[in-house]
Amino acid sequence: MSQQVEARMAEIEERYELPLYKKRDITLVRGEGVYLFDDTGKRYLDMMSNYGVAVLGHAHPAVTAAIDTQASTLISAHQSFYNDARGRFIQALEALLPDGLRQMSFANSGAEAVEAALKYARAATGRHRVISTRRGYHGRTMGALSVTGEQKHRTPFEPLLAGCDQVAFGDLEAARGCVGDAAAIILEPIQGESGVRAGTPEYLRGLRQLADETGALLIFDEVQTAFRTGTTWGFEHSGAVPDIMTLSKPLANGLPIGVTVVSDRVAEKVPAGSHGSTFGGNPLVCAAGEAVLAIVGLPDFNPRVAEVGAHFIERLRSIEHPLIREVRGMGLMVAVELKRNASPVLQAMQQNGVLAIPAGSTTVRFLPPLIVDHQHVDHAADVFEQSLNSVRT
Ligand SMILES: Cc1ncc(COP(=O)(O)O)c(C=O)c1O
Repeated sequence: MSQQVEARMAEIEERYELPLYKKRDITLVRGEGVYLFDDTGKRYLDMMSNYGVAVLGHAHPAVTAAIDTQASTLISAHQSFYNDARGRFIQALEALLPDGLRQMSFANSGAEAVEAALKYARAATGRHRVISTRRGYHGRTMGALSVTGEQKHRTPFEPLLAGCDQVAFGDLEAARGCVGDAAAIILEPIQGESGVRAGTPEYLRGLRQLADETGALLIFDEVQTAFRTGTTWGFEHSGAVPDIMTLSKPLANGLPIGVTVVSDRVAEKVPAGSHGSTFGGNPLVCAAGEAVLAIVGLPDFNPRVAEVGAHFIERLRSIEHPLIREVRGMGLMVAVELKRNASPVLQAMQQNGVLAIPAGSTTVRFLPPLIVDHQHVDHAADVFEQSLNSVRT
C-alpha cells in the first residue's frame, strides 16, 4: 500500500473513531518476530507486544500455520456443538493448570473473562459483594470496571455495581477489615497497569487464608501475568492457588480470547446455562491458542523468560540517572518509574526505534514478546538510557 493511502487511513481513523485512545503518530503495518514496521518501512524493536499480547512475537510460523490451516477448515462452531480444535486447546491448557483448577469457560477479552468470574463467584456463594484493590485493573465493561481501582476510568460511568469495595494493594489488614460477607476477593498477583507491583507471597497467602476463613472466593486476574513472570502463572511465586483465574492476552498471540478457569468446587455450583458467548471458544482462536500453549509449555520456556528478564532488570538498574525513581519487575514484566512524566521518554524511544508503553503517567513499562534475547533487551536499555538523557534538558 502506498504511503499516501496509509496517510488517508490514519485520517479516517482520526475522523470516525471515538477518541478513546491517544494515538502515537505512526501507522504499524507489519510485524516479524520481535520487530514491527511502520508504513514508511521504519523498523521498531517491539518491547510491548501490543500490551502483552504477542508473546511469541509477530507472524510466528507455528501460530500462522495453525491459523491458516484452521481458517481454511472451520472458523466458527458454536459451543453448543463439540469441536476438535476447541477440545485440543482445552486439553493443552488443562495440562498447564494446577490440580483442582481445571474447569473453564470461554470469552473474547480480559474484561469478559472477569465478568464471567464475578458472575460465577455470585452464583457459587449466593453472596454479592466483591473486594478488589486500589490501582488494580480488570477491564472496562461494567462489572470489570466496578472492581477496577482507577477513579478516572470509573467516574463517568457511576453508579457501578453495588457492593464493590477497594482496599489498598498489599495491605492484608485492610482486606480483613473489609471482607465481611463478600462473595470474592479479586486482584492481580502482580499489578500491571499500575506499574508492575508484585504482591508479596505473604500477602497473597494471607488473602488465600482470609478467603478460606470467610467463605469468599479468591480470584486471581492473570490476564497480564500469565507466562510472563518466569513461571506459567503469576500466583506460582506465592504458592497461593486461587478459586478462579482469569486469562486472556497471551493465550492466542493476538487473536481475541478470554478464559475463566474455576476450581472443581466452584464448578459444581455454577448453574448449567448461566453464561455464554457467541464467539467464545471458536475454532480459529483455539487453533492459534493450541500452537501458543505448545511453545509456552516447553520445559525451558519459563526459565528462559526468568533469565532474560533478570538480565534486563539488572541492566536497567545499572543506569544511574537522577530521573529514575525505581526499577521493578518479574520475568519480562518490567517497569521503570520516573520522577517525571514518562510520555516524552516514550516518544523519544519511539523515534529511536524502540516501542514501550506507559503505566500511569510516570512509568515506562516493558512487556516484550517473550522470545527476546539478551541482545534485544540490552538494545532496549541503551535506547531507554539515551532517550532519558535526551529529554533531560
Ligand atoms: C490484569 C488485566 N485484567 C483485565 C484486563 C482487560 O482486558 P481487555 O482489555 O482484553 O478487556 C487487562 C487489560 O490490560 C489487564 O491487564
